[in-house]
Amino acid sequence: MKASILLLPGDGIGPEVVAAAEQILRAVGARFAHDFTLQSAHIGGAALRRGLPPLPDETLKAARAADAVLLGAVGDPEFDKGDSSRRPEAALLAIRKALGLYANLRPARVWTGLEAAGPLKPDVLAGTDMLVVRELTGGLYYGEPRGIDADGGSAVNTMRYSRGEVERIARHAFEAARARRNRVTSVDKANVLEVSRLWRAVVTEVAHGYPDVELTHMLVDACAMKIALAPSSFDVILTENLFGDILSDEAGAIVGSLGLLPSASLGEGPGLFEPVHGSAPDIAGKNIANPVGAIASAAMLLRHALTLETEASAVEQAIAWTLSTGMGTRDISQRAAHTTEVTAMIESALQP
Ligand code: IPM
Ligand code: MN
Repeated sequence: MKASILLLPGDGIGPEVVAAAEQILRAVGARFAHDFTLQSAHIGGAALRRGLPPLPDETLKAARAADAVLLGAVGDPEFDKGDSSRRPEAALLAIRKALGLYANLRPARVWTGLEAAGPLKPDVLAGTDMLVVRELTGGLYYGEPRGIDADGGSAVNTMRYSRGEVERIARHAFEAARARRNRVTSVDKANVLEVSRLWRAVVTEVAHGYPDVELTHMLVDACAMKIALAPSSFDVILTENLFGDILSDEAGAIVGSLGLLPSASLGEGPGLFEPVHGSAPDIAGKNIANPVGAIASAAMLLRHALTLETEASAVEQAIAWTLSTGMGTRDISQRAAHTTEVTAMIESALQP
């Protein structure tokens, strides 16, 4: 097939891990005879450094024209002091909104060979395979009013959800559960927040259309605890934007490293695929960043944006095989291999 993929390397370790994912995408193209056109554009601090806004118009235009977008990371300490519209992170929020990417899928599972890489006892972690379905274009991240008062004495953000916003993300989660183990845990703070009470009511209504899927409601504090105590009890976790941001980092930590986690952001426009880890400026440019999150994001791109399931599975199997040999960067392995070495081994493990 022919497909155009836009690469947005961004900041920190973004360029290194996107280069790794690009190498794997090119290898998939060659081995499965696909014609992938890969182009790059600037985003985040990488755009600000060139005197451009964090999400330049040309970048957004290129994203809209592409079949899928693969992003590295945004975030650069140099721009941390600016107002919120001039921060690299503003680019992420803007591109998610502009492309209507309301459904963020963050799978977290324990890879064979990495049972002891994380902070949990291997028998607690055994069997962990969860999917966080995070609402991505609503809630506190976008709600109005927002801002800091002129005198700097107080500040406000607003958590707001409409029924429609909750319905569409809930349907996404129930559909995803049908392709997995038919269980959805909807996470909220309904004992305190009105928004959560609406969330719970709407999710319960949507669940009536999925009698084959078992729905449980859980408060976010209890969920955070249960992810640490009994992670294998979860299948799909459905939650709003901020809770999903926090819980997906926790899910990454318990399976060994945030550097392993991929994500897909889906909705109206072309899908955006990015590792869950951030720009990690402290290790940028050292060839030590874990490329697995970005390469697994490329696999999600193949699956969700291009419906190339065989190719996506082949990439995931190549990752699984590589990790099972003990190969890995220093966040997950005593071998402390370089980014490029891990990538080369995954590439060599790719079978048509
Ligand atoms: C993520 C990141 C972003 C978020 C930041 C960088 C805006 O933490 O994708 O999880 O909070 O959504
Ligand atoms: Mn986050």
